[in-house]
Amino acid sequence: MLYGVFSDVHSNFQALEKVLETFKKNNIENFICCGDIVGYGPQPGECLKAIMALKNLTIVPGNHDAVVCGKMDAKWFNPSALLAIRIVNEELSGAMLGYLASLPDFVENEEFSLVHGSPKKHLTEYLINEEQFLNNLEFWKSAVCFIGHSHLPMYFQYREGGVFKDGITVGQKIIMDKTARYIFNPGSVGQPRDGNPLSSCAIYDSDNKSFQILRIAYDREKTQQLMKEKKMPQPLIDRLRFGL
Ligand SMILES: [Fe+2]
Repeated sequence: MLYGVFSDVHSNFQALEKVLETFKKNNIENFICCGDIVGYGPQPGECLKAIMALKNLTIVPGNHDAVVCGKMDAKWFNPSALLAIRIVNEELSGAMLGYLASLPDFVENEEFSLVHGSPKKHLTEYLINEEQFLNNLEFWKSAVCFIGHSHLPMYFQYREGGVFKDGITVGQKIIMDKTARYIFNPGSVGQPRDGNPLSSCAIYDSDNKSFQILRIAYDREKTQQLMKEKKMPQPLIDRLRFGL
């Protein structure tokens, strides 16, 4: 089965639209979302509407989603992230907030596990190094776990005698070893932070056991313009240009 895997949309509807179009072109009908639909960007309502309309979607909330729906305290947020949320929060309906509040922080099924931060600390850990990966192995059972949060497309592999970590370059297809366990991060749709401003997402093939990152161009200037019109913090507008 083919899955479209995506994360950290962060209210960037222009980017989400292109990502969903790309999944459609690739005949993908199953979706995995690793959280953070809202926060930072100008169109949280549009993003939520599109995501809530997806069939065959497995989804967990991110820390921004949890703050917006009142499940998590905003005290760890930096001032610009907080301001961005305050500016656009009012656009969300009660049904949208209820949807975010209803999502489980951690999903584990026969195919895969799914969490925003890490299996150990669902909403808060940025899992970016081998030591963290090893410390998380006992907190999930399946062969594959999908995460988001760091906005960095990368993967970890564990098998007897060794751990391997790597970033994933554009178009690179990771062919999985059937005896190993993996954590995959598809990168960020709406606010990439690996120096590449293109949207990041991935295709997971559960039959042939592969994971491939795609980078997708979108109308970044339109997103930036909307942010400007809504008087969102300038650093959040500027960073989209650099992918940082
Ligand atoms: Fe995020």
